[in-house]
Amino acid sequence: MKLFTKLLLSSLTLSLASAASLNLQKDQLQLREETITLSKRFDNATIVYFLALGNSTCGTTMELNDFIVSINSEQYEGGSRCLEYVTVSYEGMSSTGQIVNECTTCPPYGLALSPGMWSSFGLSTEPSVIYGDWVFDS
Ligand SMILES: *[C@@H]1O[C@H](CO)[C@@H](O)[C@H](O)[C@H]1NC(C)=O
Ligand SMILES: *[C@@H]1O[C@H](CO)[C@@H](O)[C@H](O)[C@H]1NC(C)=O
Repeated sequence: MKLFTKLLLSSLTLSLASAASLNLQKDQLQLREETITLSKRFDNATIVYFLALGNSTCGTTMELNDFIVSINSEQYEGGSRCLEYVTVSYEGMSSTGQIVNECTTCPPYGLALSPGMWSSFGLSTEPSVIYGDWVFDS
């Protein structure tokens, strides 16, 4: 949706201001950068299980059956990713969960999944580490 709006805005800019071709090129470059950011997929990321219970760092209350994730500190961005959604793929299955917590022990690009989300992949708690792909939904 966001991307569509940006594309639309960009084409409006194009038809309204064809004289300002230098500015247009700049806009198009920015659009390309945003497109790359939006579609970025984190492949073979370390994904662990965590006991999601109680207060999260985003200020929500966690329940075991919620589809929620803790995200590595770097991508937690001091809380600016709170309440966004990620979609995790593993062995042909995918599952969407909400970012509610910072995972300080996760490696770069790593996530920790609540028991509810973890078991949606048909996993028990052993092994408690898998390697999967994930994207930000927005
Ligand atoms: C995924 O990452 C793990 C751990 O770093 C590594 O052992 C494995 O070979 C990687 N798999 C692929 C397909 O890159
Ligand atoms: C969780 O948050 C609530 C509301 O802010 C607070 O009253 C409670 O003490 C917190 N619990 C823990 C274990 O920190």
